[in-house]
Amino acid sequence: MNTRVVGMASGKGGVGKTTLIVNLALQLAEFGKKVLIFDADLGMANVHLAFSKSISHSLSDVIDGTVSLEQTIVSLSEGIDLIPGGSGVANIADLDEIGVSSIVQAFSAIEGQYDYLLVDMSAGISTQVLTFLSSVHLKIIVGTDELGSISDAYSLIKVLSKQHSIDNLIYLPNRVSSSKAGKKLYDSLNYVTTKFLNKQLEYVGCISEDSLYCRVWDSPEPERIITSSSNAYAELSAVVSEIERHLAFNSHEGSRGLSFFLDGFTS
Ligand SMILES: Nc1ncnc2c1ncn2[C@@H]1O[C@H](COP(=O)(O)OP(=O)(O)OP(=O)(O)O)[C@@H](O)[C@H]1O
Ligand SMILES: [Mg+2]
Repeated sequence: MNTRVVGMASGKGGVGKTTLIVNLALQLAEFGKKVLIFDADLGMANVHLAFSKSISHSLSDVIDGTVSLEQTIVSLSEGIDLIPGGSGVANIADLDEIGVSSIVQAFSAIEGQYDYLLVDMSAGISTQVLTFLSSVHLKIIVGTDELGSISDAYSLIKVLSKQHSIDNLIYLPNRVSSSKAGKKLYDSLNYVTTKFLNKQLEYVGCISEDSLYCRVWDSPEPERIITSSSNAYAELSAVVSEIERHLAFNSHEGSRGLSFFLDGFTS
């Protein structure tokens, strides 16, 4: 089994990346997938909070050589595990050869154990985010219809397109008032990226403004919040099934599983 690597980023902060990652992970797990979330949001690592878990080790400790990667893995829920990034995420860009090889070896040890690696990134256009985005099979830029979110998403895509080849780039509208409004938001950003950057964005659906998504943050049982009769369930399933059948995973990069992701650290 090749692990499929999906990264979630945004130009502007607070648009709903982590909430979406948690809900997508829950949905994938419900469909029987094994999911590993990598919390690469250095400043505000918070994925564990949705599952009321605490963190004792992170990738920083792996880089320091204190613990193995396996020792940092926290089981969040049935079928969902977490690797906390810690300050190690910031250091990846400056790692010496030994540090890089220790991470590559550590991640290689978990190759094949997960169907999906979901990478939650910090907001904005840091080198770190650009490196991560260029290293995942599928890039998801999350945004809302707020003006700042639209223009920051455009800036992120612009910088990304100047520095890296950007295939498999999805724009996922969040907190929209209807599926029609979501498609319209996608269309408007896709229009400008196509016109000015010659870059078409992919559409895999959108996510409505719905307090059900947020309840993962304060519920003791996040697995039980989104039931199959809800609109949220239908939206998430639609996005998950688009991801499931995405051609990126059948490409040469996709067939290389985690080693493609790890190349991002070394190049
Ligand atoms: N679809 C949605 N409907 C309603 N509220 C939402 C939705 N998605 C996210 N939110 C709310 O928006 C807020 C920010 O979400 P979240 O922390 O997931 O954003 P983020 O992009 O990860 O932020 P950061 O950039 O700080 O990491 C949270 O209070 C969350 O509950
Ligand atoms: Mg977040």
